[in-house]
Amino acid sequence: IGRSVVSFPVIDSTNVQARRLADEGALEGTVVVADQQSAGRGRLGRRWESPFGVNLYCSIILRPDIPVQQAPQLTFLSAVAVAETLNEICNLTAEVKWPNDILVNGAKISGLLNEMSAETEQIHFVILGVGINLNMAADQFPRELNYPVTSVLLATEEKVDRLLFLRTFLQRLDACYAELLTQGFAPVRRRWESLCNVINRQVDVDLGAEVLRGTVVGLDPEGALRLQLENGEIKKILAGDVRPVIT
Ligand code: BTN
Repeated sequence: IGRSVVSFPVIDSTNVQARRLADEGALEGTVVVADQQSAGRGRLGRRWESPFGVNLYCSIILRPDIPVQQAPQLTFLSAVAVAETLNEICNLTAEVKWPNDILVNGAKISGLLNEMSAETEQIHFVILGVGINLNMAADQFPRELNYPVTSVLLATEEKVDRLLFLRTFLQRLDACYAELLTQGFAPVRRRWESLCNVINRQVDVDLGAEVLRGTVVGLDPEGALRLQLENGEIKKILAGDVRPVIT
């Protein structure tokens, strides 16, 4: 990963650009980075605020030989690599929030947006989209967000070198990816679980139509969250908003 890095001062979205390159046959491990995104994309069709020169916006093209149902494992792979890099080089205590956020002090510091091109059982490619708030100042965050946000600068009061961060992150991602391909999901899953903000804790899971209360006991191989309900039953959560129960 990262043998070929394509860098842009401004691009619409590194995910969109990575998809264009992947469609044209770009090799596995190709990385697209930008100083700024004019149409940065978040989950659920939201925007991802992407001001110039302060943060990391990057997308990695992978072509894993794994079943389509296991593609969500790659989200946890990138979450582990982001959180461990923040902890290692910024001296933070980052946590992962299911399914694809990274938190510091309970505030979102990074978001992941993975996209896939696949046909029945066959993955053509996966784009791992990673946005990390590194040197973003308080007044650069959009006002309308309805969840707490932070950056390395806000959390540590120190700037971090974007290139150093990118290099360290890509090395870690590469090592995690090799581990996933050779040893399966278990090692990545264990690392993710040890970084999880609510592991072994009581949570409410908002499914829209109902709210389930239970204890988070881990991840399953398809990336679902395993929730133990109060009657002992294990429920697999595929989508939903997970909030710790404050006691
Ligand atoms: C989220 O909603 O939390 C996911 C945000 C993902 C943002 C990153 S920035 C790099 C890549 N390119 C995009 O357009 N989005 C992702």
